[in-house]
Amino acid sequence: MSGRVRLGVNIDHVATVRNARGGVHPDPVRAAREALAAGADGITAHLREDRRHITDTDIEALSDLCAEAGRPLNLEMAVTDEMLAIALRHRPHAACLVPERRDEVTTEGGLAVAGHEARIGPVAKALADVGVRVSLFIEPSIEQVEAAHAVGAQVVEFHTGRYCHLSGDDRAIEFDRLQAAASRAVDLGLEVHAGHGLDYETAADMMGIAEVRELNIGHFLIGEAVFVGLTNAIHRMRAAMDRACEATA
Ligand code: PXP
Repeated sequence: MSGRVRLGVNIDHVATVRNARGGVHPDPVRAAREALAAGADGITAHLREDRRHITDTDIEALSDLCAEAGRPLNLEMAVTDEMLAIALRHRPHAACLVPERRDEVTTEGGLAVAGHEARIGPVAKALADVGVRVSLFIEPSIEQVEAAHAVGAQVVEFHTGRYCHLSGDDRAIEFDRLQAAASRAVDLGLEVHAGHGLDYETAADMMGIAEVRELNIGHFLIGEAVFVGLTNAIHRMRAAMDRACEATA
């Protein structure tokens, strides 16, 4: 596997800050524009059922921005009829199906695809039928990878939250799990992405898995932007990924 690993920037948390005051500042669309100018390969946004950060209006503006810039919009969405209708209307480059619970702080754990093929399969098919690239946000397990393949996904995004929270030997074991799941995914013809909780160090670690083609990073970059600005945070992330890629090449 070769080539530059793409960096998708998730701008949800800009909307979280905006919504804290109910106004228009800071504008996530302006952040997305700055992220693209800083070298982000695409924009990721999660339209939640409760609209706690990104709103329907934001999605419309982000769709226009990404179309203008010729860069992909990756819409993260729960597997619901409402979200499917919105995705079919906007037809983003990609839709990443995620689990969603109203009381969670963030996306906790991956989508249980195995055992829920009958619910997820038709949604994946409806999206694929209109040309949306279907990604499933899953735990790095062989069972989930095989189920993702069975329902017709083109991409699996591995939830790296567990990896980021662990340390020492436990982290090494989780890395092996990510590597094994990534190898199986590529064997089945799936593209491999990774995301959740990544910072400069853990994003660099992910470059040690040659199958990974894209990282989607939000919370850390938006947090870092408070200290160094969004453009610098993205440049530093890009440099950390590139350095790690060169070191493992
Ligand atoms: N990928 C997916 C599928 C997610 O749900 C999220 C969180 O919204 C991310 C990536 C980014 O995670 P973080 O904000 O922790 O970088």
